[in-house]
Amino acid sequence: MKVERSVDLGQKGELLVVRDACALFEAAAELFANAATAAIAAHGKFTVALSGGSTPKALFELLATEPWRSRVPWSKVHFFWGDERWVPSTDKQSNYRMTNEALLSKISVPAGNVHRVETDRGTPQEAAAKYEQEVLKIVGPQPKFDLILLGLGTNGHTASLFPHCPALNVRDRLVVSDDIEEVKMTRITFTAPLINDAQAVLFLLSGGDKAPVLRDVVRGPLDQQRLPSQLIEPLHGSLMWLADADAAADIR
Ligand code: 6PG
Repeated sequence: MKVERSVDLGQKGELLVVRDACALFEAAAELFANAATAAIAAHGKFTVALSGGSTPKALFELLATEPWRSRVPWSKVHFFWGDERWVPSTDKQSNYRMTNEALLSKISVPAGNVHRVETDRGTPQEAAAKYEQEVLKIVGPQPKFDLILLGLGTNGHTASLFPHCPALNVRDRLVVSDDIEEVKMTRITFTAPLINDAQAVLFLLSGGDKAPVLRDVVRGPLDQQRLPSQLIEPLHGSLMWLADADAAADIR
């Protein structure tokens, strides 16, 4: 991993800066593979929650190629999604579909290890409740994911925790649905308490459009309703921001 600089962000974790997007995805693949092998060695499986959007697609495609494809014991990996759009799993906006095309369809992972949000039947509320039960069943009664991968929206959202939305204030649920006016879409999302219980949280940021919001989130005044990513402070686990130089340009 060719880190150009690292910045200690105190309670906000650590920022690792790499040269460009190519180096970013190589570094992210290495972190993913290391976390997987460590978790499997420690407790026999790797529970990971993936982010959606466009940034992680290149990481998933890289993980499907050598050496990563052979390095990760996929049969012991349990895939979840930190959020999902309320669209059919075949819809081009589906985070599951993006991950399946980029990675899952190219590796041998047991179907029972792929835990997607069931968006093809019932209501968003039912799907959220069902997903919460799946998390409790697979990850455990006090669920601590080995790794939660997150992105950062230019408006400060992460997962589907959007500014000024009810999901930001939920403390007694692990997974909820929310109607997001800003994107005119219903979303299913992990809540902040579930994310903050993770063993490791990794934000992946690429591109200059993320520079101002990264600065505001990690260096700006606390305003979690306006910048929901400020809610993410793992209680016991690690918090890492992995960014290319463009995305980290405003952090000295
Ligand atoms: C989603 C994601 C979302 C994403 C951010 C950043 O479902 O859209 O989970 O939280 O991580 O919007 O997206 P990019 O990384 O594509 O900019």
